[in-house]
Amino acid sequence: MSAKVTILVGTMTGTAEMVAQEVETSLGNEGYSVAIEPMDNLVPDIFEREGAFLICTSTYGNGDVPDNARAFFEAIEAARPDLAAVAYGIIALGDRTYGATYCEGGKRFDALLSGLGARRLGEPMLHDAGSGTLPEEVAADWALAWAGEHLAERRAAA
Ligand SMILES: Cc1cc2nc3c(=O)[nH]c(=O)nc-3n(C[C@H](O)[C@H](O)[C@H](O)COP(=O)(O)O)c2cc1C
Repeated sequence: MSAKVTILVGTMTGTAEMVAQEVETSLGNEGYSVAIEPMDNLVPDIFEREGAFLICTSTYGNGDVPDNARAFFEAIEAARPDLAAVAYGIIALGDRTYGATYCEGGKRFDALLSGLGARRLGEPMLHDAGSGTLPEEVAADWALAWAGEHLAERRAAA
């Protein structure tokens, strides 16, 4: 059995979904078992699933999470589940021209989950849409390093 990763996707125009698919491919090629879950209609119980989580989300409005992530975010805030058993990483998509709210959607999830006791694995990946790099390529490489560093032990033990 391989280490499991569930990617939770918050997106408005599909970039984060595309990023999640590239990450799924690159981790899948390395033997990880990856599932993608759009945040639409997700409930906090998702965190009872075995394995690590990747929050892959863009930012909209005034530093808000995307529309398809809002209900999920608010449900976690309301339920305040104990996430001490949860380990997660962050892939945050944004644009530096938005200044103070750069990648705030991902940062908000990070603060929410860590505030409920979850353990973040590694530093968040922040992608600037104006950087000239493709987020799906940056994320695929980042995820391989992330998994190699943080999930290798689990994979070996599985
Ligand atoms: C109306 C609008 C508002 C945005 N607001 C922010 C923002 O506050 N901070 C940020 O870092 N990026 C912001 N962005 C940039 C998006 O997060 C970025 O383009 C992202 O790659 C879009 O991913 P998606 O297609 O998965 O939604 C905004 C984009 C649009 C179109």
